[in-house]
Amino acid sequence: MESFPYYQEPKGVRMDSEELYKKSKSLFPGGVNSPVRAFKPYPFFVKSASGSEIYDVDGKKYLDYCLGYGPLILGHGHPAVLKAVKEQLEKGLHFGIPTETEIGLGEKIVEHVPDIEMLRFVNSGTEATVNAVRLARGYTDRENILMFDGGYHGANDSLLFSSEGVKSPGVPKALENSTTVAPFNDLEKVQIIAEKEELAAIVVEPVMGNAGCIPPGEGFLKGLRKICNEIDALLVFDEIITGFRLAMGGAQEYFNVKPDLVTMGKIIGGGFPIGAFGGKREIMKEVTPTGKIFHAGTFSGHPVAMSAGRATIEILEKEKVIKRTSNFAEEVAELFHEESEYPVNRVGPMLQVFFKDGDVKDAEDARKSDPEKFREFHRSLMDEGVFIPPSRMESWFISAAHSGEDLDRTRGAIKDCLERIGRGP
Ligand SMILES: Cc1ncc(COP(=O)(O)O)c(C=O)c1O
Repeated sequence: MESFPYYQEPKGVRMDSEELYKKSKSLFPGGVNSPVRAFKPYPFFVKSASGSEIYDVDGKKYLDYCLGYGPLILGHGHPAVLKAVKEQLEKGLHFGIPTETEIGLGEKIVEHVPDIEMLRFVNSGTEATVNAVRLARGYTDRENILMFDGGYHGANDSLLFSSEGVKSPGVPKALENSTTVAPFNDLEKVQIIAEKEELAAIVVEPVMGNAGCIPPGEGFLKGLRKICNEIDALLVFDEIITGFRLAMGGAQEYFNVKPDLVTMGKIIGGGFPIGAFGGKREIMKEVTPTGKIFHAGTFSGHPVAMSAGRATIEILEKEKVIKRTSNFAEEVAELFHEESEYPVNRVGPMLQVFFKDGDVKDAEDARKSDPEKFREFHRSLMDEGVFIPPSRMESWFISAAHSGEDLDRTRGAIKDCLERIGRGP
């Protein structure tokens, strides 16, 4: 078995995932560079991946429904993306000076996403939401933010809250005091808060992808739009998961609701680190250097990410990826309906099953699902060669590379797992 070129194993020694994890734990907190990756007893270490499959250093392969937590809508190593990246690499890695490639991707996003007239590229989803919040505060000259329980907007100090309070020590009290958390899908509560607080913005994941998969109820997003209009606050859609996934124009097209600001990430980088915040020209021109609201970044508009993102969007334009991945997710959801009593939420290609009784309409419901049962299911699916995100609070991701044969394998694996762990609460 080969090792990665950038990691030199001691001569004659081939380390498996367990051994690599031991080493990794001494280098990185919990052995990982992002906490969700640290599932028990230890994560597998990836050797390579191709299409819908991922291969680990232990010689196992998995059908991948995690897909790098969502960016790889075309699957691993799509030839068009690889070609675009290689061509860009030949020209140079990074310049810190404008390139045509950023115009290429910028134009594609403006063309497809209804409410982005102007945007700024950054390097992660977190950076996108940090800057969107600063812009909303600077533009409205207000500080208070309303967000939703179960929403995740990256490691952003202004938005690291849930109904249970602050999610992390180290977040300043002043920020806690300026953010209010409402239950998702509860317009009445939002209305009450909006009347009381001078809100700069309401920030929302239009489909909650970080509390499993929770769709907005009928009229919820339109209701948020109406409330923001009434109080002159900005409506910020965090489309880091939903962008180019639910529709080419993201959730705003899918649900026909117009936000003022939008954050994007994941898919638009084609597998490379990226984020973007954008929206109405009138608001975006307040960003430096035309305006006073600060944003800057050494790697912003990185040419490799730009070319990978543009190549990805070009494939999405040509092929019916969104429709195909949505149909695939529908089949998986259907199987859960047929084979189990557990609720399954699905919106387009996003889905999650909840090991509990009754519907899941908000994060409180999602938290009631059985974590042990989920772990058992996750482990059991891995034994069958299927890898889904290792948290009940994530959505499954499906790519263009997932075939009919993959669907059959997945259906078989789910049936076997349900047989083992039980079909209902
Ligand atoms: C909805 C949403 N917003 C923001 C982020 C943060 O993005 P990143 O991890 O690229 O910083 C994520 C990451 O999963 C996300 O799902």
